[in-house]
Amino acid sequence: MLDRRTLFGATAATTAFVSSLIGGRKAKAAKSAAVTFNDVEERGTKGRLERLPALDLESTQDFLTGFRNLVNGDMRRLAAKRFSEILEENGYEKDADIPLEKIFELVKDDHRVMMSVRGWVSNQQLTWKQVQDYFHANADKYFAEMESADNSGPGSLELNPGIEPEYTKHEIHIQPGGYTGDPFAGYINYYGVNNFYGGSNYDDEVQAAIAERVQTPPDGMVGRILDLGCATGRLTIAMKDRFPDAEVWGIDVGGPMVRFAHTRCVDMGKDVHFAQRLAEETKFPDNHFDMVVSYIMFHEVTADAQDKIIAEAMRVLRPGGVFFPMDFRTGKQAATNTAYRKFSTWWDHRWNGEPWRFEYASRDFGDLVASYGFEVDETVPAARRGHGAIMAVKPA
Ligand SMILES: C[S@@+](CC[C@H](N)C(=O)[O-])C[C@H]1O[C@@H](n2cnc3c(N)ncnc32)[C@H](O)[C@@H]1O
Repeated sequence: MLDRRTLFGATAATTAFVSSLIGGRKAKAAKSAAVTFNDVEERGTKGRLERLPALDLESTQDFLTGFRNLVNGDMRRLAAKRFSEILEENGYEKDADIPLEKIFELVKDDHRVMMSVRGWVSNQQLTWKQVQDYFHANADKYFAEMESADNSGPGSLELNPGIEPEYTKHEIHIQPGGYTGDPFAGYINYYGVNNFYGGSNYDDEVQAAIAERVQTPPDGMVGRILDLGCATGRLTIAMKDRFPDAEVWGIDVGGPMVRFAHTRCVDMGKDVHFAQRLAEETKFPDNHFDMVVSYIMFHEVTADAQDKIIAEAMRVLRPGGVFFPMDFRTGKQAATNTAYRKFSTWWDHRWNGEPWRFEYASRDFGDLVASYGFEVDETVPAARRGHGAIMAVKPA
């Protein structure tokens, strides 16, 4: 088996050197004590987020975040306006639903439309590359951080390398190595996704707001909660914050994702359990959980996996328990499929590494969940702008 250094050929600093650099939360609390550090933050925190360890790195990420906001705001508005004009110039209504091939033919040579896409994709590529390069160059230091947390509490970590089905190895969002193929996938995802949130999620406030909107079982009893596809554990932690007395589990197919999530929880003193397990085969007993939640996982799995995961949620929930999947809207919840929306979904699928986005969008997810025997309510408030929610109760 490769050890952690030969993996990268890194000549990173020793743990002692790392410890001497440590600042921030843990170091302040532990000043003179002989401690095992699992926190290598060097430049303090911004909210709950450990600042990136070098100003240059942080500064470039700030630039990329600002650029992303520009692309998502003004550039996209300009592109959408130009898109409508092109349709009108060619005799179509501005919100017409026309075939993709025709859409490409009409817009492919327009620099305003295409630059909004290319600008977005390039920003995504640069964001990932920069953080991946940093964590690979400092591999020893961050392996040491994770190793030190692996067997520490509060909470727990279970890793099951080798369980990853082929479909989970895709580089979703063009993240290099994807969720499963890079030992630093958790770190890379955590800092990269920060850019996705436009610099407004340093305190995980997005997931805190989402957790507040999750509907509880009609009988109000919440003792155990499961978060499927928990990634770096942002929603899992938010659920624990909302229900501090509950036993909270986050599972994900990506070992590096839950390993990072656990490291973060140890650092923050959060009693949350993480396991590398499949959402379609969670290994939990029947009727075990009061709530099963998921946030933006379903559009990233195959239709076959979606079916299996819904059946698994039904199995592990107790009668009267709530399944609360949150993701892009489909079916009755979906917005009108205008040409611009169709084009945007297509390039997200094609250039942002979203292989199942179209497949997901073509199903009515509410009806699908109901077909597994859940009592479904699709009138619950949206989880977040752009994302819908479904409250599904397992019949008592
Ligand atoms: C977009 S991320 C989820 C974000 C996360 N829920 C949050 O609140 O930040 C999707 C996650 O689903 C995980 N995933 C994909 N297929 C899975 C499966 N079959 N079982 C468990 N996790 C899966 C991926 O590894 C990835 O971490």
